[in-house]
Amino acid sequence: MSYKPQYSPLAAYLANLRPAKAAERKYTGNPVSETDIERNRELLWAHTLEKDPERDFIILNITDPHLSDTGYRVKETPEMFKTVEALIHEVQPDLITVTGDIVCDDATYHSIRRFTDFMESFDIPWAPVFGNHDDEGNCDLAYLADIMLHSPHCIMKKGDPAMGVGNYVICITEEARTVTALFMMDSHHGLVNARQTEWFSSLAAQIDEESEGNAEIAVMLHVPTAEFEHAYNAAYDPETKTYRDGYGAFGEKYEEVCCARRDGEPYEEGFFTALKNAGNVKHLICGHEHMNDFSIVWDGIRLTYTMKVGKSSGYQPGFDGGTVFTVGRGGIKRITHKTRKNDDSREFYNIEDKSLR
Ligand SMILES: [Fe+2]
Repeated sequence: MSYKPQYSPLAAYLANLRPAKAAERKYTGNPVSETDIERNRELLWAHTLEKDPERDFIILNITDPHLSDTGYRVKETPEMFKTVEALIHEVQPDLITVTGDIVCDDATYHSIRRFTDFMESFDIPWAPVFGNHDDEGNCDLAYLADIMLHSPHCIMKKGDPAMGVGNYVICITEEARTVTALFMMDSHHGLVNARQTEWFSSLAAQIDEESEGNAEIAVMLHVPTAEFEHAYNAAYDPETKTYRDGYGAFGEKYEEVCCARRDGEPYEEGFFTALKNAGNVKHLICGHEHMNDFSIVWDGIRLTYTMKVGKSSGYQPGFDGGTVFTVGRGGIKRITHKTRKNDDSREFYNIEDKSLR
């Protein structure tokens, strides 16, 4: 009988030399139960956050922090955390939303814990969705969600696995009436799937009925839809380098709209039509592009890129901060992009500040 050592220092050393690839993923989260899937079809499963009738409800969105366990991103993390801390101090949000690409690269086991611990320290509800980079490391999305859900202030729900991970609703209510319903959705690597579209349409109708047509819906996801490109092309006049009237447009575009494409053309599978048909959708909000912050009304729905935070994975000065959505009695009434005053500063200025009413 040959002797096989339980632990081989050489094997461990060689294993560490080899970066973990998604295919060799070690950390797998729990699937949700069938009961949870059933409950997710009902609004009973939505989170409710009560708005004080005496003041506005403030949502601070941060996007694309791109943390990782290895490389230069480890060094960037404390700086990014300080930026978020200063933003929270300035904005005093009631809710912090995170529109994806929280972690990236091969190793994410430690960075998702760092992020969760950091977010938990503020005593403020926070609600993430996943981006296209979150699942490229050694933890799958269900595992990342499990870690974040250890934070009592994280109000994410995993939702029906057939829709991805992290499809859920947050209702901001005033005196028990929904003012704004936030649909937090998994955009996968570019496309919302048919099951999600069906789920969205059914809950949007339920919200409309229960609020007697008074609630607005805002959808938050990571990857922009094809309409972001259509809207920009229609609204922006390259000759005058200004936006045309009639689109309520503001903000900048410094890089391409990276939506799903087929044969090079922007492509979608009916999600935007479902948003339009719902009748009560006012906002579609995304992350993904680190150097776009434009906001344009297209077919009655305002499409908004949010401001990236931190310097990890593609950054340019002027695009390091967050986006504030101010919710009044009638829904989102103001959008403000805040960016750092300069590279060394933790003070912010409003690079865009648009009243919508
Ligand atoms: Fe992304």
